[in-house]
Amino acid sequence: MSAPPQPQVDERLFFALWPGEDVRSRLGGVARECAEQVGGRRVPDENLHLTLVFLGAVSAAQARAARELVDALGFAPFALSLDEVGFWSRTRIVWVGSSTLPDALTQLLERLNAGVAALGQAPERRRFAAHVTLIRRARRRPRLRVEPIAWAVSDLCLVRSELGAAGARYEVVARSPRP
Ligand code: 2AM
Repeated sequence: MSAPPQPQVDERLFFALWPGEDVRSRLGGVARECAEQVGGRRVPDENLHLTLVFLGAVSAAQARAARELVDALGFAPFALSLDEVGFWSRTRIVWVGSSTLPDALTQLLERLNAGVAALGQAPERRRFAAHVTLIRRARRRPRLRVEPIAWAVSDLCLVRSELGAAGARYEVVARSPRP
């Protein structure tokens, strides 16, 4: 007897906020400063982002629905203040994050999660923490104070992740509003 057909899985996707050049270079500066203190593997500047909802591997039909969701959700710009540097000892991740979530972001997350549930994708298991990963495998918590980074968030992105020998490669495959 032949095995039942497996769903076609061709993409790993997640929804994210992707910083523009200005915020990215400030984040990169903080990442370099931290890496000098605590070593580890710094996330390349072009990969810095804030994940909203991670979908993981999806079928071709789910990938299409995720793109449609980005269009359907719409997006209202908001301001985000990245005002804390943190360290998760279990995963040894150094991150920059936001101590307070703007209402617009909370609402966007609610709508995104509802949309993702409708895609038939399992809901996010990790509790949401607004963070941008700067360094992986850090030796310890860095000791530094950062000036809050003011991020004028202007769009919502659907991103494809490809894991290769040289690390992750990300590509924005849909945006709201459309560029
Ligand atoms: P991280 O930076 O905290 O590791 C692409 O991999 C993005 O999705 C990263 O920002 C990563 O968060 C996040 N991510 C990876 N695996 C995940 C998972 N299983 N659940 C939630 N987010 C995940």
